[in-house]
Amino acid sequence: MERAFVRRDVVRGLATVAVAAATACRAGAARRTVPSFGAAVRQTAFDDGPLSSLIATTCATVTPELELKWAAVERQHGTFTFSGADRIAAFAKSHAMAMRGHTLVWHGSIPDWAEPLLVPGADWSLVGRYMEAAIRRFDGHVRRWDVVNEPIAPEDGFDGRRVSPFYAAWGSNYVFRALEHARAATLRGRLFIGEYGLEYANPLQAARRDALLALVREARRAKVPLDGIGLQTHLDLRTGPFDPQVYRDFLQALADEGLALCITELDVKERDYPQPIERRDQLVADHAARVLDVALAQPALEEVTCWGLSDRQSWLRVEPRDYASFPNYWQDGSSPGLNRGLPFSADLQPKPLWHVLESRISQHGKDI
Ligand code: XIL
Repeated sequence: MERAFVRRDVVRGLATVAVAAATACRAGAARRTVPSFGAAVRQTAFDDGPLSSLIATTCATVTPELELKWAAVERQHGTFTFSGADRIAAFAKSHAMAMRGHTLVWHGSIPDWAEPLLVPGADWSLVGRYMEAAIRRFDGHVRRWDVVNEPIAPEDGFDGRRVSPFYAAWGSNYVFRALEHARAATLRGRLFIGEYGLEYANPLQAARRDALLALVREARRAKVPLDGIGLQTHLDLRTGPFDPQVYRDFLQALADEGLALCITELDVKERDYPQPIERRDQLVADHAARVLDVALAQPALEEVTCWGLSDRQSWLRVEPRDYASFPNYWQDGSSPGLNRGLPFSADLQPKPLWHVLESRISQHGKDI
């Protein structure tokens, strides 16, 4: 355990940057494992000394949460701005970390100017120029690219694929076209499709798994360059059920296609907000442990990245739906507080989820 992760007492002692800096080398040397541990970060994390120290001492990989997406990079048609992603890459390099290339073709990050142009028969260079600019800039440092993100939506009624603006412009073939284009821009980068909603044994997620497997097999038949699947793994205590066998079989089916697997966006959406914090944190950790125990037993798994390291910078929110589930609470207008679905609290203390991650990755991981 000690070899894979910075010691817990060292993490607790991150009060000063000096302590963290002194431990960084030790942790950096110790954390080379497969699968590697990482987190999504925002460039603003580097304005926060204790948070960036924690990132430096715990992560072998960082993923830009926002900075590399199309809408962030090409705010104006034809002008590419990489300052945010550059800042993350510089931090990663200076701490001998990998950076994940997230994410190129995603319906959730289309620049405003591009939206009306994505019509049937649109010129591929609309998105292709951005893809190429992003890949070329970070080629060599970024070894894993999330080329296409979230292409699956069985509920849209078309061959399991999401009817996104990309689908509208180029048909379901856009996924393969994007992978081919990415391969032309990088020979060494490994090319991934990212997807969510694949863990639970309910009918909706069963259909999502089937649709993703169908897409993967079609890509294989067409000899499209596809190296792996990014399993987002946004867990949710409000949904379920989790059936280890169903999940194990699904991961094996992907591995049987010769694909690498990465958990790319692990977090846990909570349900029981009125419980004491210790109980909430335990529920989060126990649930993640069930999923990780299956995933980490799969030899094709290469990376476990959390979608944020600490609640201090978290995209998880307590939503109106959560309030509505507890009609007798917070009637005074008070808030149930933060969602606590990340490994470290807002004051950077490790939670049970962190202990699950360090123990499970150490147990299953191989030093390299
Ligand atoms: C999210 C960010 O975390 C948010 O801050 C942003 O507002 C929207 O995008 N799946 C993905 C991620 O692949 O890129 C998304 O990130 C979360 C869902």
